[in-house]
Amino acid sequence: MKENRVKVAVTGAAGQIGYALLFRIAAGEMFGPGTKVILSLLELPQAIDAAKGVVMELQDCAFPLLENIEVSDSPEVAFADADWALLVGSVPRKKGMERKDLIKINSQIFIEQGKALSQTARKTCKVLVVGNPCNTNAFIAKETARNIDPRNFFALTMLDQNRAYAQIVQKTKVPLTAIEGLVIWGNHSATQFPDFYNATIKGRPLIDAVADEEWLQKDFIQKVQQRGAAIIHARGLSSAASAANAVINTVQKLLNPTASAERFSLAVVSDGSYGIEKGLIFSFPVRSNGKDWEIVSDLPLNEFSQKKIKESEQELLQERAAIKSLLEK
Ligand code: NAD
Ligand code: LMR
Repeated sequence: MKENRVKVAVTGAAGQIGYALLFRIAAGEMFGPGTKVILSLLELPQAIDAAKGVVMELQDCAFPLLENIEVSDSPEVAFADADWALLVGSVPRKKGMERKDLIKINSQIFIEQGKALSQTARKTCKVLVVGNPCNTNAFIAKETARNIDPRNFFALTMLDQNRAYAQIVQKTKVPLTAIEGLVIWGNHSATQFPDFYNATIKGRPLIDAVADEEWLQKDFIQKVQQRGAAIIHARGLSSAASAANAVINTVQKLLNPTASAERFSLAVVSDGSYGIEKGLIFSFPVRSNGKDWEIVSDLPLNEFSQKKIKESEQELLQERAAIKSLLEK
């Protein structure tokens, strides 16, 4: 039998999300029990010792699928021949900040890493950006990684999707598996739109099952949009285990064919679908055939949904304008 092997570069390996993510990848949760994993960890020079501590713990788990672990503070070295790059490493926001306040702080990281990916990663490398503001950071990486197909750049909105499902479960007490098709449009920010109009519960429209459209239009949307801030407020630190879980979910969803009635949330490069500016990294309802993905193209959008989606697009256009001069250098 042919042995499968995947090389995964993870940046910010000594950080909170890194610690919640690496052990699950090494245990086989991301790529399945038939695939060996090589982990290539990137950290800042000052955090390399901490990353080496994480490596010791990974070794001490004696994971059968974990073939090798490399650590580097050079993006070119860490990304060499990578099949996947999970770009986590960056500064998280603190209480009172919006994610876009991190643009100036984090954008340089993604310029440098986009260039390095282009130079040393496999041409087929898939790049999932977690570091905030993740849509615009993925946009930056896509623009700078000239040798990699723009369709291989993604930003994480699965955490928002999971949060939306959790809110509906709490409101309705239905089992999570009864809910289908609840996806996030737009930016991973306070303008994102969790599309309850196109979702179902046990096959019925979700709005009929919830029977409280005002709650859906106001409290529900706001709760999902503000969940990251609520966690920072409660923990003093941003979400980590749930973010790592969403990274695992996303890669699994891309690698496995999506069930016929399903779709999932992923920020991908816009091809102009639904009138969204081409080239933006925008969260759409997406499906995968296990090898390639597509935007679900035929969802109806009422006036309310269209307005919300446009607001999020506007915010992403503003973020793009804020980093434009950096890309011209
Ligand atoms: P953290 O501060 O605990 O860890 C970040 C790590 O990244 C640190 O170890 C730091 O040394 C490292 N780092 C910084 N710059 C780097 C670089 N240029 N190269 C390699 N490593 C670098 O932060 P965290 O809690 O792990 O969060 C990481 C990022 O993920 C933040 O930007 C946060 O806002 C974001 N985040 C996104 C989502 C999402 O859903 N998209 C969810 C949670 C957190
Ligand atoms: C989240 O949604 O939890 C992350 O993006 C972290 C944050 O800043 O909210």
